[in-house]
Amino acid sequence: MFETKEYKGTKEKNYPIVIKQLDALLYDEPDVIANLSNASALLNQFLDEVNWVGFYLWKEDELVLGPFQGLPACVRIKSGKGVCGTAVAENKTQLVADVHQFPGHIACDAASQSEIVVPILKDGEIFGVLDIDSPIKNRFDETDQKYLEEFVKTLEKYL
Ligand code: SME
Repeated sequence: MFETKEYKGTKEKNYPIVIKQLDALLYDEPDVIANLSNASALLNQFLDEVNWVGFYLWKEDELVLGPFQGLPACVRIKSGKGVCGTAVAENKTQLVADVHQFPGHIACDAASQSEIVVPILKDGEIFGVLDIDSPIKNRFDETDQKYLEEFVKTLEKYL
């Protein structure tokens, strides 16, 4: 049984605990949908002030909605479109302090104000993205970026 933890202290202290929890959850389980579902649930119970946490998966030539926590969302996103498609096109994390200032941002949940999108790779090729939205501006900083990129690296071991 998964036991929720009270994450006390700093991000520097808490993120490594969550990354360890992810490793423990995914260890020995090859099913990708099950693993991404648990990864989104894990982040959702850990992160405060977020309204959407989930994955888009690269299929043929576009991102398609994968496991997530939050309101129903847009299903297909082309490379270069929105924050998610930009992360794919640039193969780079997008840290967006204010989504209303991001040209072409795709609004799935009107509550979203800031967003972070981390590309996920498999064998050096795009596999998908981790997308997290917050209802407050400036929710994510470089520390979140560093650890969410580590979170994705751990996930990549199981793809
Ligand atoms: N805002 C994203 C779309 C996905 S939703 O946030 C869940 C984007 O601009 O790509």
